[in-house]
Amino acid sequence: MNYFKMQILGKSENEKFCRSAIAAFCVGLAPSVEEINDVKTAVSEAVTNVIVHAYDSEGIIGIDAYIDDNKLTVEVSDSGKGISDVIKAQEPFYSTKSDDERSGMGFTVMQTFMDSVEVESEIGKGTKVKMTKVFGGKC
Ligand SMILES: Nc1ncnc2c1ncn2[C@@H]1O[C@H](COP(=O)(O)OP(=O)(O)OP(=O)(O)O)[C@@H](O)[C@H]1O
Ligand SMILES: [Mg+2]
Repeated sequence: MNYFKMQILGKSENEKFCRSAIAAFCVGLAPSVEEINDVKTAVSEAVTNVIVHAYDSEGIIGIDAYIDDNKLTVEVSDSGKGISDVIKAQEPFYSTKSDDERSGMGFTVMQTFMDSVEVESEIGKGTKVKMTKVFGGKC
């Protein structure tokens, strides 16, 4: 078992740091390029959601990652406004923002690239997105 936990301010310039940190943490799993890109893409979507949706201004992004044998678990959390309907939020093309940049595909991307995605949220308290992925080769 191994884990790493961090908190970082939800600024858009920190999204890349989160992606790179999780990639570095996974090195011990001897990931394929595809596996590492999958995890980076999924974490990037979850982190971007915190930056874009969770807070009215900047707030904290929490990243807790665990490795158990060849399984990675990543939890991306915030203590922001929360999601009223987590089922609806995960539907493809569902977005509460109507600008051109948001297509409502973030959760669908996470589900595509990870083995499991679970969303827990409470209005006014925050959101936690828990994702897992089993890696093919362990070193
Ligand atoms: N951390 C969060 N806090 C509050 N609301 C969230 C959070 N994450 C997601 N949501 C809500 O869930 C909706 C769907 O998220 P999703 O990532 O699928 O789409 P999007 O962010 O709107 O668009 P895209 O990811 O394609 O740019 C968001 O529009 C938002 O209302
Ligand atoms: Mg999104």
